[in-house]
Amino acid sequence: MTFTVAIDGPAAAGKGTISKAVAAHFGFAHLDTGLLYRAVGAKVLAGGDPVVAAKALTPADMEGDLRTPEVAQAASRVAVLPDVRAALVAFQRSFAVQDGGAVLDGRDIGTVICPEAQVKLFVTASADVRAERRFLELSEKGLSDTREQVLADVVARDKRDSERAEAPLKPAADAVIIDTSDLSIAEAVARAVQEIENRR
Ligand code: C5P
Repeated sequence: MTFTVAIDGPAAAGKGTISKAVAAHFGFAHLDTGLLYRAVGAKVLAGGDPVVAAKALTPADMEGDLRTPEVAQAASRVAVLPDVRAALVAFQRSFAVQDGGAVLDGRDIGTVICPEAQVKLFVTASADVRAERRFLELSEKGLSDTREQVLADVVARDKRDSERAEAPLKPAADAVIIDTSDLSIAEAVARAVQEIENRR
């Protein structure tokens, strides 16, 4: 049986944490689609061509540290290119319909990749809250960006992701919005689990 959960939203809203938790809860496979764009972004930072990189992506390209601010910005720059997005569609769609259920998180899962998903969640939070979370995450990893830099980065990335012509960041018409600004991780996960239970 296939069952697809699409989780979209802006940077650092809690999509990744919620996706991992609900995948573990229901025993579904999980794909963080941002990693695909980050892997392409990293190849471009290393001098590669974005479309060639997207067409040739392998699981090994998803290893290594792709969670840096530089790679995040490079990812959002390659993500505006229609040929890059097109090269990544088939893999995401086949992941979504595997037996046993799948959770995919990203920006365009509910709108473009899996418009037929049984559950669509749009996880968001205020820009300040998201920047603070990302700041704490990066500080723990020893990166020295200031709060202001992290906020500016998050805002720039959301703007590029929302304003691009191809598959912009936006909630699907039938998505359930979960604003995590004032929710603990446990509360946000519980909300997501409830929405999925309601549609099983
Ligand atoms: O989710 P994450 O922050 O890792 O995504 C990095 C970038 O990849 C995003 O800012 C966005 O530009 C792009 N992306 C996308 N579509 C997705 C997932 C990520 O355009 N489904």
